[in-house]
Amino acid sequence: MSSRPRVLVTGVDGQVGRALLSLFANTSELISCNRQTLDLSNPSQIRTRLREAKPDVILNAGAYTAVDRAESERDLAMAINGQAPGVLAEEAKRTGALLVHYSTDYVFDGSKNGPWIEDDGKNPLSVYGASKLAGEDAIRSVGGRHVIFRTSWVYAPEGKNFVLTMLRLGRERDSLNVVDDQIGAPTTAAELARATHEITAGILTGNFGSESDWAGTYHTTCSGSVSWCGFARAIFERAPQLLDHKKTAVNPIKTSEYPTPAKRPLNSVLSNEKLQQRFGVKLAIWQSALDEVLAEIAKSRQ
Ligand SMILES: NC(=O)c1ccc[n+]([C@@H]2O[C@H](COP(=O)([O-])OP(=O)(O)OC[C@H]3O[C@@H](n4cnc5c(N)ncnc54)[C@H](OP(=O)(O)O)[C@@H]3O)[C@@H](O)[C@H]2O)c1
Repeated sequence: MSSRPRVLVTGVDGQVGRALLSLFANTSELISCNRQTLDLSNPSQIRTRLREAKPDVILNAGAYTAVDRAESERDLAMAINGQAPGVLAEEAKRTGALLVHYSTDYVFDGSKNGPWIEDDGKNPLSVYGASKLAGEDAIRSVGGRHVIFRTSWVYAPEGKNFVLTMLRLGRERDSLNVVDDQIGAPTTAAELARATHEITAGILTGNFGSESDWAGTYHTTCSGSVSWCGFARAIFERAPQLLDHKKTAVNPIKTSEYPTPAKRPLNSVLSNEKLQQRFGVKLAIWQSALDEVLAEIAKSRQ
């Protein structure tokens, strides 16, 4: 391998894909793929594209992420989230490439009292969660050089996410009702990309030992936890200028008062202890990661 690894990124128009591109650009030969140039619902296209590109590393940031719509589009969600990761893993194993994949807290049912660890029992409540679990299982059954980062509540300065939705609604309305009995760790795409970059570099240089030392699944979220309602309040408190200094009341409600097609776990908090022990990597606490994103949004609106 040359000093600059060939890094193929899928889903580059998404939140995590974009963050990965900006971090890996200086250290890698990038092969950027979006839905048009690498359609994850098309296994033969995946194989052809990978065999042409011959990457040393595959960062699979592409996914079917419309959690509620997945309830009525099971086959498509399963193809993209459940089957494509297995095809990527087979292609990676054929050439010895490293596959980095992202999964979700929604593989759990939220019933645990305390942070989830990697090997806790999975019981997805939604089609999206089941499709992401199928993708994890497909990678694990192929084996090879792979790392699966399970993350949660992802957001970035651009994209479809809770922070941008709250900022829009905050400007439009005087009060908002926000679910207060689901807790999790809001995680920025930038922090996830930073951890990915550091860990990938360490694996490629052999700093983390051999494949049997590092291959596997890791919970990778910002530190701390909060409810959606607490998160909304923090957004409003920390960025009054983005709301034109308008005061918006945030009222706590129960999940049962906000029905959605897909059921979500009540406790989504993931323990990051394994990540820290194995790689020495810790993501920022969610409040400071939020401040960074709010500052970027403010800069982009100047
Ligand atoms: N967002 C969250 O809260 C969250 C939480 C936990 C885990 N995750 C996981 O983190 C990873 C990154 O998520 P994200 O937040 O960056 O999602 P995102 O912003 O929705 O980006 C996903 C990207 O995948 C692309 N995609 C969809 N169907 C595709 C297909 N058939 N072929 C190729 N690309 C396709 C989308 O393309 P278009 O732009 O063309 O639609 C989009 O650019 C995913 O694995 C997700 O499951 C996300």
